[in-house]
Amino acid sequence: MAIDLAVVPVAGIGTRLLPATKSQPKEMLPVGRKPIVQYVVEELAQSGIKRLLFITGASKTSIENHFDINAELIQYLRETGREEQLAALDFERQDVQYFYTRQRRPLGLGHAVLCARPLIMRQDFVVALGDSIIGLHAQSRVVEQMVELFENDRDVKVVVAFEEVPREHVARYGIARPKGAVDDVFELEDVIEKPTVEEAPSNLAVAARYVFAPEIFDALERTAPDRRGEIQLTDAISLLLREGARGLGVRLPPSERRYDIGNFASYFEAFVEFALADPDYGPGLRQHIERLLSEGTTQC
Ligand code: UTP
Repeated sequence: MAIDLAVVPVAGIGTRLLPATKSQPKEMLPVGRKPIVQYVVEELAQSGIKRLLFITGASKTSIENHFDINAELIQYLRETGREEQLAALDFERQDVQYFYTRQRRPLGLGHAVLCARPLIMRQDFVVALGDSIIGLHAQSRVVEQMVELFENDRDVKVVVAFEEVPREHVARYGIARPKGAVDDVFELEDVIEKPTVEEAPSNLAVAARYVFAPEIFDALERTAPDRRGEIQLTDAISLLLREGARGLGVRLPPSERRYDIGNFASYFEAFVEFALADPDYGPGLRQHIERLLSEGTTQC
């Protein structure tokens, strides 16, 4: 795999998760045993990414600390006879180099990606949203597949992952307008940011993983801010496609759900699902939840 560079935007304010996100990044909230962004980084590392550029913002320094090697903690665990805990820190030694730059004002996801331009210049690259996990325990290889498709056809300028969503939810996402029949891989004619149910050309929602040629930066420069003053990545992709660039969509298999930790409903669902799948604590938690539900002692 020649593309070994990923941009991970983590500079959003996370207002929908306040107060949990007041002084800590939403990307550092735990889902099961790990912070969300650790799943994202592990997924990218197992897909062949070796250079990772975080687009960070104010109050996001804990992300940098998380991926650094904490020699003091390792020494402490050794000295206090807790060697068995060291395995939990193995991710620190992944074969990935980390880079950081700041989006100084939260002007939208598209603007966050544009902040990478001076460093990326003319390289092809992956974008993976730092608040979205793909597949239970992030075992997905979709990025590897997307990069392969991109590299096998030099006409392709953008590859986007999509997930099928219930029709009534299309207004929450960027939605694909496929060209022709939809298979696991399909030609992309356009993407529409948050269409109404009536307008939506499909129920395929953009799913937090992308591969781009550097032409996306020109499209982002020319993309007008939306009514909230934010530059949307979906609008720039749409511009690129409407100007004739070739794009492909990759449909996530049903076994690789996208966990978008954007609000409390999706956060709670993801946490419970990952905790129930925990090999040590899942079975006990399942019994606990079943007991709570059968006793009717909760407001469930
Ligand atoms: P969201 O669209 O969920 O926005 O970001 P947000 O600002 O984090 O959250 P709300 O809407 O205020 O609740 C999707 C991903 O894009 C990043 C976020 O950090 C998240 O990983 N992002 C978003 C940026 O890096 N910069 C931005 O200006 C917006």
